[in-house]
Amino acid sequence: GTSKMFPNLPMNPMMGTDNPSYNQSNTVNESALPIPPMLKDTNPNPNKAEFHITAQNATKEFISGTKTETMGYNGDYLGPVIRVRRGEEVSVQVENKLKDEMTTIHWHGLEVDGDADGGPHSGIQPGESWTPEFTIEQPAATLWYHPHPERKTGKQVYKGLAGLLFIEDEVSDQLEIPRDYGVNDVPLIIQDKRFNKDGSFEYDLGMHDIMNGLQGNTLLVNGAIAPYLEVPKGMMRLRILNGSNASVYELGFDNNQTFYQIASDGGFFEKPIKMNELKLGPSERAEILVDFSEYNNGDVIQMSNQGVKFLKFSVSVNGASVKQFTIPEKLNPIEKINPEDAVRTRKFVFQGMGPRVNINGKQMDINRIDEQVNLNTTEIWEVSNESGMGMMGGTVHPFHAHGVQFQIIDRDGNPPPLNETGWKDTFLVSPGEKVRAIATFNHSGVFMYHCHILEHEDAGMMGQFQVE
Ligand code: C2O
Ligand code: CU
Ligand code: CU
Repeated sequence: GTSKMFPNLPMNPMMGTDNPSYNQSNTVNESALPIPPMLKDTNPNPNKAEFHITAQNATKEFISGTKTETMGYNGDYLGPVIRVRRGEEVSVQVENKLKDEMTTIHWHGLEVDGDADGGPHSGIQPGESWTPEFTIEQPAATLWYHPHPERKTGKQVYKGLAGLLFIEDEVSDQLEIPRDYGVNDVPLIIQDKRFNKDGSFEYDLGMHDIMNGLQGNTLLVNGAIAPYLEVPKGMMRLRILNGSNASVYELGFDNNQTFYQIASDGGFFEKPIKMNELKLGPSERAEILVDFSEYNNGDVIQMSNQGVKFLKFSVSVNGASVKQFTIPEKLNPIEKINPEDAVRTRKFVFQGMGPRVNINGKQMDINRIDEQVNLNTTEIWEVSNESGMGMMGGTVHPFHAHGVQFQIIDRDGNPPPLNETGWKDTFLVSPGEKVRAIATFNHSGVFMYHCHILEHEDAGMMGQFQVE
């Protein structure tokens, strides 16, 4: 594939990329789905890993003939995949080569102590570096990393600073699922953007963006607009991240193809969950298995968001024979945290709108600790959403806390949907809704909890909890 697009690509590629003359042999000038490179571990010791990451300014051609100013990790947009193993001792040297801009790097979903977490307290000044060290103590999962500077997270993520962090373990090694990275195990980082006429990213927050967070009109997958991916006639494992600032997606296929979700934010489910639509809020992840074995060479199946197609899968039987998989019966047992083990229920209420968004009546103050949690205890966190109630129907807010993985107990007293019965670090809370989640706090330090609509986070819809 080449990186040129359809010459007649509409200005808003989400509307009408369905080209009836689409040529299955991909001779059309569409862009192939970029596959983020796997970051090299420079430590020869098999039990240790060492990585180097540089945040930098760059430019990239998203729309043919234009240049967009971006930020990237080790490249021009997004970052490499960091792959670690459970039990491994990891050190990451993060260098800030951004022009005149401080940044931090946060490992979203990773269970580590506060000093390695990379929140707003771990600022890296331009020209400096930060080298956190931590041990991987949690099961296989698809996590991600992104900057977290106070009031600037939205803009830096929007410009391209984000990447995936894979944890592997004995379970993920042994499951009969695709694991050939870039071939049948492919990440999909879905983000929405608005482009100015000159090709630059538009990040001027108007009233709508201040209220709802920045929502784009053009979907990117791994940094490409409406790309295609050649897939083998067999099973594909897709690791999906909603890496958007604010948008919630409802993903499916144009032919209503069924698929199986096998993992949520913090790892595998007990068994695959059959579905044909997947709702994913900002920062949530899902791993799905899609079986393309019944298709013919050249068939094209498209992924869509709320019915709008944005990613083509083109079935190809070129090359070597593919290993065939079936949907596994079982994945990995999840030990349920018993609500009776909780030492307390702690309440969080999303309130306010626009510039006044807050949690429990307070906006983020980096010099204030809002909640004290005792180390190695279990708590129920009850998150409710009273924000904007009565006005315009309110806003959905994705709740996220650092350093832990939750299990959702209930939503308004009812059991959560099946695909929320695994480990979660981020969950949507609809207007008027109350979600109860339980977690055990095994890492000490200062951590953030916040709305993962980045414009809300930047406006102050965030607080700090200290575990000790
Ligand atoms: Cu994705 Cu505070 O984090
Ligand atoms: Cu996080
Ligand atoms: Cu919010």
